[in-house]
Amino acid sequence: MPRNEDIQSLAQLVEDYCCSAITGGREAQEIADEPHRKIYDAMLYSIKAGGKRLRPIIMMLTAKMCGKKPESVLPFAAAIEMIHTYSLIHDDLPAMDNDDLRRGKPTNHKVFGEAIAILAGDALLTKAFETAATYSEPGVDKERVLRAVSILARLSGTDGMVGGQVIDIESHNEDLELLRYLHLLKTGALIRASGVIGATLSGASEEQIEAVDEYCRNLGIAFQIQDDILDVTGSVEELGKPIGSDEENNKSTYVTLCGLERAQQMVDEYTRKAVESLDIFENNDELVALAHRLVGRKV
Ligand code: IPE
Ligand code: IPE
Ligand code: MG
Ligand code: MG
Ligand code: MG
Repeated sequence: MPRNEDIQSLAQLVEDYCCSAITGGREAQEIADEPHRKIYDAMLYSIKAGGKRLRPIIMMLTAKMCGKKPESVLPFAAAIEMIHTYSLIHDDLPAMDNDDLRRGKPTNHKVFGEAIAILAGDALLTKAFETAATYSEPGVDKERVLRAVSILARLSGTDGMVGGQVIDIESHNEDLELLRYLHLLKTGALIRASGVIGATLSGASEEQIEAVDEYCRNLGIAFQIQDDILDVTGSVEELGKPIGSDEENNKSTYVTLCGLERAQQMVDEYTRKAVESLDIFENNDELVALAHRLVGRKV
């Protein structure tokens, strides 16, 4: 079972890494002198606002399960958090979910305006790849690194998170099968990228990479169903984002299609499937515990 302090310190490590990647390690004063300082402020604002850091934690715990140090994948862990944070900034824009609160603070566009918020998202996405490109762990095949970059790009884009957001925007009253696919892309894709990159960079076999992928696919769906449940049952104070956003935007979710009770059962079912996928690993306890902890999450 990962101790809370261990997870917390990994989360802090990722945040520090993201901040120093964004500033290029420069002092605040140097940045304050730049004519385009606003973009730094906007990127740092959303990164520093907090968040669970779930995706980088999955990547680092996967590396550990595969026999590497969690910190060995830090450039990619920071990259996935930057991409996730960009997706949240854009998701909150008036043209998308039109939400005012994120990670307990006013959304990026509420503070910096829509134009800068769009650009902060763009800049976080490109900074993510710049940061991943600094990965230089000794003894890792160049081919594996390239494969990791390609996974990061593919699962963030058209056939990954962006594709999922498109289905989310375009569909109403979809059937359960389409909703499962939507969740798999919109939220599952970045979670898959986290696990699969962690395993790929840590020398895992193809069978092990597939098992981690299966864990992440199921965890990703469970996580988004739970997000949909919390949009109905959660509290703004605990979640740090508005509740009732899905209803306001006329979204079909597992809750609207199946009811709360069945949706909760489905979280349990997908979590169980996720956990089973890790049977082939000896040191799977931290990722198993993480999956169980997410089931009852309130944030
Ligand atoms: C929110 O993700 C968006 C979804 C994909 C459900 P998180 O719940 O991981 O948000 P943070 O990073 O903790 O703020
Ligand atoms: C968004 O899903 C997932 C992303 C790809 C950002 P939601 O719209 O349900 O996420 P929240 O509830 O605003 O965090
Ligand atoms: Mg959305
Ligand atoms: Mg949203
Ligand atoms: Mg939601």
